[in-house]
Amino acid sequence: MNSLTLSSFWVTCAAILGLLYKGWKRRTEGSKLPPGPKGHFIFGNFLQIPSVAPWLKFNEWSKIYGDVVLLRLPIQTTIILCSTQSAFDLLDKRSNIYSDRPRSVMEELTTWDFSFAFMPYSLRWRRHRRYFHQYFHQGVIQDYQDIQRHAVWSFLRGMIDNKGNNPGNEVRNIFSDIIINVMYGINTTGDEYAYLAETSVRAFSEIHVPGMFWVEYLPSLRHLPGWLPGVQFKKYAQHYKPYIQKMINQPFDMVKAALENGTASPSVTASLLKEIEEKYHGTPQQAEEEEIAKNVAGLGYAAAADTTASAAQVFLIAMAFYPEVQKKAQAEIETVVGLGRLPDFGDGEHLPYIRAVMMEVLRWKPVVPFDTPHAVMEDDEYRGMFIPKGTIVIANVWNMLHDPEVFPDPETFNPSRFLNDGKLDPNILDPSSVAFGFGRRICPGRHLSDASLFLTVTSILHTFDILLDPDFRGNDVEMLTGLISAPIAVPCTLKLRSQTAERLVRNVSD
Ligand code: HEM
Repeated sequence: MNSLTLSSFWVTCAAILGLLYKGWKRRTEGSKLPPGPKGHFIFGNFLQIPSVAPWLKFNEWSKIYGDVVLLRLPIQTTIILCSTQSAFDLLDKRSNIYSDRPRSVMEELTTWDFSFAFMPYSLRWRRHRRYFHQYFHQGVIQDYQDIQRHAVWSFLRGMIDNKGNNPGNEVRNIFSDIIINVMYGINTTGDEYAYLAETSVRAFSEIHVPGMFWVEYLPSLRHLPGWLPGVQFKKYAQHYKPYIQKMINQPFDMVKAALENGTASPSVTASLLKEIEEKYHGTPQQAEEEEIAKNVAGLGYAAAADTTASAAQVFLIAMAFYPEVQKKAQAEIETVVGLGRLPDFGDGEHLPYIRAVMMEVLRWKPVVPFDTPHAVMEDDEYRGMFIPKGTIVIANVWNMLHDPEVFPDPETFNPSRFLNDGKLDPNILDPSSVAFGFGRRICPGRHLSDASLFLTVTSILHTFDILLDPDFRGNDVEMLTGLISAPIAVPCTLKLRSQTAERLVRNVSD
């Protein structure tokens, strides 16, 4: 592209932006939009959104403008919901019109658009979600308990063998091992699959940070050659695309081949493929349904591994920083479970303090600090404010879980805030009611996540003491910025609590 064509291109972009802005102004004129920070006349608030921890900036704005903050981003009008009330009112109660997703160029370029997590609210999305729900609702996840036990016990044994070093990395394998086994029947430990998922999810996570990629606001930039300054997003997409493709295709093709030669292990993918074969054999719809099955499996694999793994890392950090909480949690497990066996799923209802620890993990450092963007399908009005069709709506979950009115002293890890007289207090907001999103888009993997995390947390506490690295300086660990956030470091080691604990682990996992 020569410099003349390039200049014409930028002039065209500016003209398009101007026209879009004019159109938007005309549509919203005379209407009372939600309040928000004043922005640049062309770029709106784009340049004001920090690329690191934008939820803190959203929090700051909410103190000035209230719990519904309007951001003017080129092309996309966005509102940030900063209170549970506004999020429940709009995303839950009006979910019939708040369940769409914004279109994203980066999803297309990286090929993440296979994922129903980002599909428009449509029949196609519903077909994906129905398959997913069928295998992950509360009534079926007990079927995966053996897989979960196996993954958690392997982790415990591995930790004993390597003297408790680097649990932050090792703990992540639990969740990728579980999901790869549930989804594809592949019994593996970590390594290639975990790496593929983590790499793909890094892109998934980064491309959804508001303000991260200009091309989302000026889609015609995608037609510029990749060598131009400011067009690095193309290189970024090219880098991640092969990982994403391999993540979706490789394990799926393995299951298909195994089914054909009669060697497939039980798995969600195998069951889906059998169901499709029975219902659609020889019809034109068979290939389409198989594509949906592949997408569902590929997303489950990606969505499950990274999120729950990050929550487990937050748990380790909390225990290392708050040894008195750790001791209390261990004491509760000892009273209920005793020293003669490892904790199991059935213990959950007798362990309110552990439940409170898990709630505090979701609250203290939310691993999805701002919800996946929703989009409004019709013009709407809320508390007298006009919300135009197409507006992107983001629930600032971090803000909700750090509201000092709801959670006093929010930076402190304090599970007791959820308890009254030794029981869970129903008057305190359960963080899982916002951490897993809202309405018709609510996370369909939350039951599996809760069960896997429960077994991980109780088994670690029963077997090990979690110690802060002596050379760690500081009193906090920062979180990476992304749709899915993870601690930048997990400065702790595990110390075996007793020979009895070791014997229990060796017995179950041999
Ligand atoms: C700590 C763990 C997890 C957290 C905090 C979490 C959080 C979320 C959030 C906030 C959303 C977006 C909801 C919305 O749009 O309002 C979501 C969507 C989703 N999650 Fe999770 N999740 C977790 C674990 C899992 C697991 C284990 C799975 C799979 C087994 C999973 C599968 C999904 C899927 C498929 C969607 C897309 C739903 C849709 O758009 O229809 N998640 N999750």
